[in-house]
This record gives sequence, C-alpha cells and structure tokens, in this order.
Amino acid sequence: MNKEIFAVYPGSFDPLTNGHLDIITRASKLFSKILIAVTDNCNKKHSFSLNERLELVQESTKNLENVKVVSFSGLLADYLEQINSFVLIRGLRAISDFEYEFQMTLMNRTLNKKIETIFLIPDQSYTFLSSSMIKEVAMLGGNMSGLVPKCVAEKLEEKFPKHINNEYTK
Ligand code: PNS
Repeated sequence: MNKEIFAVYPGSFDPLTNGHLDIITRASKLFSKILIAVTDNCNKKHSFSLNERLELVQESTKNLENVKVVSFSGLLADYLEQINSFVLIRGLRAISDFEYEFQMTLMNRTLNKKIETIFLIPDQSYTFLSSSMIKEVAMLGGNMSGLVPKCVAEKLEEKFPKHINNEYTK
C-alpha cells in the first residue's frame, strides 16, 4: 500500500450506487486518503441537487475513515491545482466506458500535465449498474435492494413515489 498518496475520485454521483461505493472502498485500501469530489456533469441533466448528492455520498461513506467528501464547481483540472493533488480515480465497468474515460483523461492531462488518472474495475456484480438505470428502475417502482446504499434508496423513494408504478393508460 502506498501510504503517501492522496487521490481524488470525481463524479456527478446522481445518485451514488453500490458500484461507486465498491470503487471508493477499493481506492480507500490503496491510498492514504481519498477525496470524493462531487460536481455537476454539464452533459447530464441531474435529478438530485449538488447538495443532495453530496449528503448522500457523505452518509454512505461515513464508515470509511480515510474518505472525505467535498463538492466543487468549474473545471476539475483547476480544482486539482487549487488543492495541489493530481491523482484521479475513475471506475471502468466495461469497454463501453473506455472512450469517454479516455477522452476525459487526455483532456485533463492537456489542461494540466501533472494529472494522472488511475482506473479501478468494480466487482463484476456491479458492472451493469449505472445511476441513470437506477433512476429509471426507481421511477417505475423497482426494488433497489443491493443496488444502492440504504439512504440513497430512501431518497429515491421520496423523489419518485411508487404510486406511478404499473399505472397503464387504457
Ligand atoms: O460521474 P460522471 O458524470 O461520469 O463524472 C464526470 C465528471 C463530473 C468527473 C466530469 O464531467 C467533470 O470533471 N466535470 C467537471 C468539469 C470539467 O472539468 N470538465 C472537463 C472534464 S474533461
């Protein structure tokens, strides 16, 4: 274990899934400190506010001693310079994630050549999980058990009440 390196895991976490949590847990065993940096992804329309997303990540990771959660706005490369930390963690679920992650890695490196991105692969039981699919299933009243932390499941239920489940127009 490299005890010296402090790594940043950036993401929109809209909402946090057990797949994200698996990456956070793996990263927390490899680095002395993990900073989860919650922000907006301007290519996505978020269902949860930045503050809601931050609180859900904080609640879900409160048992991990070396994990801290913050939010930021603006360019990730600028934020990293501000906190003087240049190691990024990102999760890779499948080949389909690769192109986007590759572009983002090289853009961040172009913006600041000190930035290095390290990819971690989640447990295979989470490789199909995405925040957008979670929201779709939650909206339609599906069972969230094993897919998201308890506080996220509760927030999803609050946001997408189950009465819309199975309401078909005749
Ligand atoms: O969880 P996501 O939505 O895949 O995370 C993407 C995120 C938030 C890390 C990315 O959109 C980002 O870094 N946004 C901050 C603005 C920025 O720096 N954009 C250029 C990234 S190459």
